Amino acid sequence: MPGFPAVWLRHNCPCPDCRDPVTGQRLVAISDIPIDVVAAVTDADDGSIEVVFTPDGHRAVFGRGWLAAHALPDDGSSLDGSAGNPDPRTEDGKRLWRAADLDVAGLPGAGWPDYVVDDAVRERCLDAVARLGFALLRGVPAEPGMVTRVAETFGFVRETNYGRLFDVRVVADPANLAFTSLQIPPHTDNPYRDPVPTLQLLHCLRDAAVGGETGLVDGFAAASALRAEDPWSFRLLTTTAWPFAYADKETELRSVQPLISLTPAGRIAGVRLNNRSMEPLRCPPREAEAAYAAYRRWDALLARPEFRLTFRLTPGDCLIFDNTRILHARTAFRAAGPSAPSAGGERHLQGCYADIDGLLSTLAVLRRACR
Ligand code: FE2
Repeated sequence: MPGFPAVWLRHNCPCPDCRDPVTGQRLVAISDIPIDVVAAVTDADDGSIEVVFTPDGHRAVFGRGWLAAHALPDDGSSLDGSAGNPDPRTEDGKRLWRAADLDVAGLPGAGWPDYVVDDAVRERCLDAVARLGFALLRGVPAEPGMVTRVAETFGFVRETNYGRLFDVRVVADPANLAFTSLQIPPHTDNPYRDPVPTLQLLHCLRDAAVGGETGLVDGFAAASALRAEDPWSFRLLTTTAWPFAYADKETELRSVQPLISLTPAGRIAGVRLNNRSMEPLRCPPREAEAAYAAYRRWDALLARPEFRLTFRLTPGDCLIFDNTRILHARTAFRAAGPSAPSAGGERHLQGCYADIDGLLSTLAVLRRACR
């Protein structure tokens, strides 16, 4: 079979000796395949392809459609993953965007009642999270705990030391700037965790009287722009491992990761940034200075208005976003003062974490049904 090495064909043989007929899982091990395996290919009468392997005489039958769907790229193609095996988690599987590419009045998403009953609507929303990095559900009942119900529509809540869900509102003794009314610049959550939660949900129960607008930045679009404008900084950000940490009485979390992660083939696969939890960099002074210069360039690029999509979450809105790609921010807001306790200033969001593999699995299963 032109284009398919004998060892590839033998390893993918679908016969019941090589694949368990019940689970579909592979039985044959690489060590079972003769190191000098050779394939003799013939066209079968029924239109399939028959392969006889020497020296062991094993016989395989492949459907033409299956082989076409798994065709290998030419030897001359780059192995960046996009040629034959696009990875939906990298920039190759995404639609990168800047603020002007999206209409704030019609952000990707749906109304909760439709989302709950209509698989096609749910498929569209989950596809938006996969490809654009986020979706906005409107009309989710503004009741405590609903955010975990939303996560359960596509996967599993990722419980952490903050609990099954967390409240984002002003408190008297904040352990985190999120629990103040200060502005928060674009960041990803929990970079000190390994693995990091790959999805975050934020559900608005009450909005602020003034301010408290949400900002989203497509970190993959920004990283791609940095790569084009300033390859030196881009390279440093992908190769300098930066420590992040969080500690309180019961918890001590630490992770050392680059601010921009690449696949082995050099494709953008993740961003991680949170100034609040960056730890001292431990590297030779010259490298530290260079890393800080690159970080400054990255921070300045992320702050450009062209990248930031700004909108207001109102009660009942639930935002679902990819925490390995989308940086989120909020503007300062006015908390309710003693003079205006009911003026709508008691901004209150509930959030939870989940994981994108579960969402992508649900999306794939929905696509089977919607096809
Ligand atoms: Fe956050």
